[in-house]
Amino acid sequence: MAQREETQRLQHYVGGGWRDGTLSVDSLNPSDTRDVVARAPSDDGAVMAEAIGAASAAFPAWSEASPELRSDVLDRVGSALLARRDEFGALLSREEGKTLPEGVGEVARAGRIFKFFAGEALRRTGLTVDSTRPGVEAATYREPLGVVGLITPWNFPIAIPAWKTAPALAFGNTVVLKPASITPALAAAMASLIHEAGAPKGVFNLVFGGGSAGTKLVEDPRVAAISFTGSQGVGEGIAEKAVKRQARVQLEMGGKNPLVVLDDADLDLAVAGALDGAFFASGQRCTASSRIIVTEGIHDRFVEALAQRIGALKVGDSRDPETQIGPVASEPQLETSLSYIEIAAKEGARRLVGGDAVQRDKPGFYFAPALLTETKLDMRVNSEEIFGPIASVMRVKDFDEALAAANAGQFGLSAGIYTTSLKYARHYTRHVRAGMVMVNLPTAGVDYHVPFGGTRKSSYGPKEQGPAAIEFYTQTKISYVRP
Ligand code: UN1
Repeated sequence: MAQREETQRLQHYVGGGWRDGTLSVDSLNPSDTRDVVARAPSDDGAVMAEAIGAASAAFPAWSEASPELRSDVLDRVGSALLARRDEFGALLSREEGKTLPEGVGEVARAGRIFKFFAGEALRRTGLTVDSTRPGVEAATYREPLGVVGLITPWNFPIAIPAWKTAPALAFGNTVVLKPASITPALAAAMASLIHEAGAPKGVFNLVFGGGSAGTKLVEDPRVAAISFTGSQGVGEGIAEKAVKRQARVQLEMGGKNPLVVLDDADLDLAVAGALDGAFFASGQRCTASSRIIVTEGIHDRFVEALAQRIGALKVGDSRDPETQIGPVASEPQLETSLSYIEIAAKEGARRLVGGDAVQRDKPGFYFAPALLTETKLDMRVNSEEIFGPIASVMRVKDFDEALAAANAGQFGLSAGIYTTSLKYARHYTRHVRAGMVMVNLPTAGVDYHVPFGGTRKSSYGPKEQGPAAIEFYTQTKISYVRP
């Protein structure tokens, strides 16, 4: 890998133009921290206020425009992302640390999302209802909300901005996006493509900054709705502020997703699913299969096979073609993973494989994927989201105990089960307390055109993505007309 690569100098994007700020936040390559990927400005609220103003000014024309115009802009962004997936995918891997196939795949996914919502722009449909009063017509319309504020995390630095921005714009809203500070480069890339696609000025705005810029966005009375993906604690604070001023709010937060493996499971399939679900993207997915619940008849064989596969994973530079698991994204993430290994040891879990920081030929946040066994339901590693390449295994007697364990805790994003029994698969699907259920599939890895979201402390508000996105990004107007 070349040692000296270009450091991007990023600008805010406000009212259709690029705006300089003091470059105060460096994004580092987690595979080689000597490499500064980008320098971004950090707004404390002043640029944010302008961006909200630009988005407000752009709203009337954009929302009244032909849906064909909105559809064409989104379609062009989608095509550009797909055409440049290799270039932006490499940049994503360099900045976030997921492997090259994962980075390229994520950019392609963002492109597909824009394409999907190019179609959805034409489907802002309503309902006509026969009134009980003869001669009166009753109808519903979907209206855009106005300015929508989007706050996105670092772990999917382009897919999540895409899956919020595309539906917001498709249905006629205007957008102010504040991406996570540690991965600004992909949000800037997306902004440049939206600019090149001919989006009218002010329709989409990008402001870099930390918590204070985010707070400004959440509290501004000109912002009609906030969609946030990130941690549960931050989400709670956002919701409080948004609800207080009656802004619409949608939150996608943590998970502690159970993956149940029953005695009758296809062992190879279950091992492959656990490996993918728990460790790919370095376990930094809110949908990660971080809690593996295994019935006793298959437990030892499963754990042995899984540990062997984990031990063989190649951890290295995210853009090295040999690498299967990239580094974790940042120093705090590395420290968090290391601290949970200590916590697990204190609580009496057994560390079967991995769990140490790993040295490579360059300074980076490398961590050997870890499997903890003999864990108990009340241990912190079974109830708190770690957001790293660590999975815990819990041994249970039977299906009923597995389901009860899966339903424990505060989260409810995604839940999986490996079984060949239709009876158990169906019962689990109906009774597990999660927004998404996967049968003979890992808990992570979702389609871009299907609704996404959880229950309980994982999510709040309508589901994202696919045909569900219209629920959050529009409001219903009801009319009664006597002609
Ligand atoms: C996936 O599992 O494919 O932040 C997507 C996250 C989720 C997205 C997961 N919002 O990890």
